[in-house]
Amino acid sequence: MPLDIVVGTQWGDEGKGRVVDLLAAQADFVARYNGGDNAGHTVTVGEQTFKLHLIPSGVIHLHTVGVIGNGVVVNPATVLGEMETLRAAGIAVTPNRLRLSYAAHLITPAHRALDQAQEASRGQGKLGTTLRGIGPAYTSKVSRQGLRLLEMLDRQRFADAIRAHVQEINRYLTALYAAGPLDPQEIVDEFDGYATQLAPYIADVSSLLAEALARGRRVLAEGAQGTLLDLDHGTYPFVTSSNPTAPGALVGLGLGVGCAERAIGVTKSFQTRVGSGPFPTELAGEIAARLRGTGANPWDEFGTTTGRPRRVGWLDTVLLRLAARINGLTELALTKLDILTGLPTIRLCTAYRANDQTFSALPFGPSDLAAYEPAYEELPGWDQDLRAARRWEDLPAAARAYILRIEELSGVPVRLVSVGPERTQVIEIP
Ligand code: GDP
Ligand code: IMO
Ligand code: MG
Repeated sequence: MPLDIVVGTQWGDEGKGRVVDLLAAQADFVARYNGGDNAGHTVTVGEQTFKLHLIPSGVIHLHTVGVIGNGVVVNPATVLGEMETLRAAGIAVTPNRLRLSYAAHLITPAHRALDQAQEASRGQGKLGTTLRGIGPAYTSKVSRQGLRLLEMLDRQRFADAIRAHVQEINRYLTALYAAGPLDPQEIVDEFDGYATQLAPYIADVSSLLAEALARGRRVLAEGAQGTLLDLDHGTYPFVTSSNPTAPGALVGLGLGVGCAERAIGVTKSFQTRVGSGPFPTELAGEIAARLRGTGANPWDEFGTTTGRPRRVGWLDTVLLRLAARINGLTELALTKLDILTGLPTIRLCTAYRANDQTFSALPFGPSDLAAYEPAYEELPGWDQDLRAARRWEDLPAAARAYILRIEELSGVPVRLVSVGPERTQVIEIP
């Protein structure tokens, strides 16, 4: 059945929004399945740039229906704000065009306050979260104390549940973190307004998508974050609190295992990470400054959600092979190849070394990365500006060699090469 899953293969910000925008041209539904407004997905169409945190990037195509699945944690203020931003840009957002799962959980100001208090208490050992309340909201869900969108449909019960939730989190804030308590009534009133506005959008996303797939409609699942931030398979504990990996799309949308057709791994041509945690191929100095940019260009490596400078390094194909396996990748979409222009040589991490031994895979996944040294292969760079390339033949031989080597080392074919942020700056490889 025609479910295609777009998944980040690294630590997020691979250019998923950009790739979803391309693939959404052929999709009927575009569905976010994990994470919350910790994500920041950028789409550039002509002169217009959209930065979306919760609403799927594909809604920019007016023929699509956007879906937020049960696996997502929803900050209602963010979703309503994005609806307004989209409308201001001339993109209709109505209950016909956007459906939110009744089983998705809410993020409240109490979750955000707890995220901040927990990060502050970690001091030097902080995770570097986005402070959007993601961890605490998923904690509420897993501990079976969460608030689902469904609860919004019964106003009195919802008010009681919000009050009890804020009172509970206040106990943690005051007793464990010496933080001030929040006013439960203020949050009850705030959320009453959200309930009124969001009620028409709440739906059974699982059956909506299953019926669509049965009728031959195409569903594009849009992952947030990336494989290495996966709660189970990433660089734990420096991860997010959801499953961004492709199988997370099935759980996070309520679909069966037989639905998936393609798993498209979005891979930046180099490696980046924002927040704490191990990063074996991390660079400092001149090359790092060059890959990151100064912030003058919209695509420079500064967080879409938090504005933090991203850490940068060489592409790590040991971790890419892990992503290929865990996601069952059928193809790669390689982004930001244009950024490598001008480097005399480019390195690819092909294996790790520890105690005079070479490892092409990690014995215990990416858990103790700090124990390994990356082993590199060096390839020649190129000087040509790639931004106008639209066909494979337009690329210089060195750029083609780099792509072919990535295919070889990952075992996954590259089907898309992005050479700029704009919708048309892409090479499709049949
Ligand atoms: P996401 O979270 O995976 O959707 O990625 P982000 O939107 O956070 O970050 C990717 C950034 O790179 C955005 O600013 C994109 O506009 C930009 N981008 C995507 N593909 C390309 C590309 O091929 N070249 C350049 N220069 N920028 C790109
Ligand atoms: P997109 O979808 C990059 C990182 C945070 C932090 C860790 C945990 O735009 O690729 P959290 O707030 O989720 O508890 O933070 O995860 N992180 C991201 N890094 N891109 C993202 O999303 C991210 N979402 C979370 O920086 O290291
Ligand atoms: Mg991002």
